[in-house]
Amino acid sequence: MSHLKAWRSAIVHCIADPKDVGIDAAYEYFEDGLLVIQDDKIYALGNAVDLLPTLPDNTLIEHHPDTIITPGFIDTHIHYPQTDMIGSYGEQLLTWLNTYTFPEEGKFSDKAHARNVADRFLKELLRNGTTTALVFGTVHKVSVEAFFEASEVHNLRMICGKVMMDRNAPDYLTDTPESSYQESKELIDTWHNKGRLHYAITPRFAPTSSDEQLHLAGKLLSEYKDVYLHTHLSENKDECAWVKELFPESTNYLDVYDQHKLLSERSVFAHGIHLCDSEYHRLHETGSAISFCPTSNLFIGSGLFKLNKAEEHKVNVGLGTDVGGGTSFSMLQTMNEAYKVIQLQNENLNPIKSLYLSTLGGARALRLEDKIGNLAVGSEADFVILDKKGTPLLESRLALSKNIEESLFVFMTIGDDRAIQATYSAGKCVHQR
Ligand code: GUN
Ligand code: ZN
Repeated sequence: MSHLKAWRSAIVHCIADPKDVGIDAAYEYFEDGLLVIQDDKIYALGNAVDLLPTLPDNTLIEHHPDTIITPGFIDTHIHYPQTDMIGSYGEQLLTWLNTYTFPEEGKFSDKAHARNVADRFLKELLRNGTTTALVFGTVHKVSVEAFFEASEVHNLRMICGKVMMDRNAPDYLTDTPESSYQESKELIDTWHNKGRLHYAITPRFAPTSSDEQLHLAGKLLSEYKDVYLHTHLSENKDECAWVKELFPESTNYLDVYDQHKLLSERSVFAHGIHLCDSEYHRLHETGSAISFCPTSNLFIGSGLFKLNKAEEHKVNVGLGTDVGGGTSFSMLQTMNEAYKVIQLQNENLNPIKSLYLSTLGGARALRLEDKIGNLAVGSEADFVILDKKGTPLLESRLALSKNIEESLFVFMTIGDDRAIQATYSAGKCVHQR
């Protein structure tokens, strides 16, 4: 038996969705807890006083009196090729794409460039405590190869795919239905389920794919049982009007994807802001998920995500940063903006619910809850050590906190990368401040 390693700290994780069981039954909290790891998996979790006497003498124990351990964060929608264009000014979606995004993505035909950005992107995720993400590449096959090669170095559980885009984009960024099918297939054969990596079939969004290309995306999804489908849906009003014009036969935006058999238990649709009841219903019926991306929705001026509507219809929801439309890699800052989006609709987002959305809820949206998302025994050891003294303001504010819910809320309101003391992936330290 290989040696055990243990972390003694306050520990919190979600075990259920607060909407199903209420807030109190949705999480476990150990004020003086012990997280025990064997190799890459969680071996034990509980109160330090109970577990310490049970461990072999040679167990390595790290004691952190001023931290809170949580599961690694899960970002259900992000674009790695947009890392260097984060914070691009003054446009809504369609002009933002043409003005900033497409020229930036053009650079990813060069694999060396792609690898350089992928390395910096992953470093930024890990600095922010994100251990798993569902990631857009560009139209270039090499962009996805570079991303997976970079992810493999750190043994990260990551999902990525080549953008399929055969119209309404510059020539230097378009493929054809056949080439996109063939290249996606080659990438799936090489990378899907290799170590901790997974593939997502990735048509950019309805306006940049022909019917033929969407049909071939659906064919791929049916040919490979457990690959993902990742795209955008109903983000911006002008975009929705354009989809109506381009696909007059479809009854609504989601129906474009539905007609091409793109809805599934492994389908993740970013944004879903302007949806009608029948679209929520269909998302639920097919087990599809929405990625709620608050920093992006505010920054690009897209609108307010209706979490209550999604919940009413029992649609799976995860949280996403959507960098570079989103303005932060930090899931703590993403929870901060999610809270405000819900506030503007006269509702409240409980901190345990936010923690759920960025950990176990994200894992469920990605159908990975048997592997990641919480600290249950047997799960992969992806976790974060939050530093209560990460900034002077965190330290003074948290000193006044009365309970774990309040402490979490403070972290997710004024915390960012400075609050992440360390990040672990499959039991190995992949970031230390
Ligand atoms: N819709 C189509 N492409 C994109 C993109 O790159 N970012 C966002 N936020 N929305 C999109
Ligand atoms: Zn996006």
